[in-house]
Amino acid sequence: MSGLLLYCRGGFEAECGREAEVYAEELGVEAEAQTLPGGGAVFLPLPEQAAEELATMPFYKWIFARQCLHVIGHVENLPERDRTGPIALAVPPAAYSELWLEAADTEAGKPLLPFCRKFTPYLEKALAERKVKLGSQRGPRLHVFFTDKQTAWIATSEADNASPWPQGIPRLRFPHEAPSRSTMKLAEAFHVFLDHEDQQRYLKQGLRVVDLGAAPGGWTWQFASRGLKVTAVYNGPMDRKLMAEYAVTHVRDDGFRYRPVKPVDWMVCDMVEQPARIAQLVAKWMAEGWCKRSIFNLKLPMKKRYEELLRCRAIIQDALRKAKVPYRLRFKQLYHDREEVTGYLELRE
Ligand SMILES: C[S@@+](CC[C@H](N)C(=O)[O-])C[C@H]1O[C@@H](n2cnc3c(N)ncnc32)[C@H](O)[C@@H]1O
Repeated sequence: MSGLLLYCRGGFEAECGREAEVYAEELGVEAEAQTLPGGGAVFLPLPEQAAEELATMPFYKWIFARQCLHVIGHVENLPERDRTGPIALAVPPAAYSELWLEAADTEAGKPLLPFCRKFTPYLEKALAERKVKLGSQRGPRLHVFFTDKQTAWIATSEADNASPWPQGIPRLRFPHEAPSRSTMKLAEAFHVFLDHEDQQRYLKQGLRVVDLGAAPGGWTWQFASRGLKVTAVYNGPMDRKLMAEYAVTHVRDDGFRYRPVKPVDWMVCDMVEQPARIAQLVAKWMAEGWCKRSIFNLKLPMKKRYEELLRCRAIIQDALRKAKVPYRLRFKQLYHDREEVTGYLELRE
């Protein structure tokens, strides 16, 4: 049993699977992704060498996968009286940094989480008896993923090339002062797209931000509370408390019509619009030199979501190639995204 195990948002298994198949095709391998029972996870069977190659591909390239694991075993029909034995037998005796017991982030997966927690010390003990070392500085992380209490997938990830969160779900605190829950999308986007150094550099006091379609102001709050100067573009009113507490400039205008008086550091955009229109807008801002970096949300249609995303990516790539602007572009379906994907575009110096 070799291949990749990918975690994704429930309902996006087809997109996640398609994405994985396309990466396999690029290696010259034809593979067919399988949605695991209960959803929220996809298995891509692959010859070992291709699995190894795709598992080591930079994690940031995955758009729909929240986590990418290298499968090393699969056990079924676990007996209720001794689930640890067959799992421990399927784990190659080696050194691992950590052991994570996980289940999908779906209705089917949720009831398994208390079981995972309770079962962890028993499995640790069984693994220790099998000379499996946990807590090693260098070894990969060991994942045991349950689709039900009788079925476990055994897989590994490298801590420096995988989501750092169990289930690929970031544990972020909701800031109660923020005017909307959308604020979590941007908070997560900062974690996903900017490393610690970038956060220090690009989220520092005094930098200038334009927030298109800003109301009620959750994204604006993320910047304003860090001391950045935000111009919030929205035709209607903004959250009153936010406007009273922070130095936010409110411009009543249409997000597609607004142009900055002078170039800014950030343009962010969370307008609910056709994704291709947003892609064109973001590309225009960057090509015209109106901003240096952008985080934007693409609301995906009900059908052909993967294709639509590729179309939007091509719109940005083509526009910037024509404008001869060097850039870096990434996409991720964040945990806090629903029927949408978040993009990050930056000008390369
Ligand atoms: C998802 S909400 C934004 C939430 C915001 N990011 C927050 O954190 O509070 C989308 C907003 O974009 C606004 N919007 C949609 N089209 C717009 C346009 N053409 N110009 C300006 N605002 C627009 C909507 O009215 C809505 O307030």
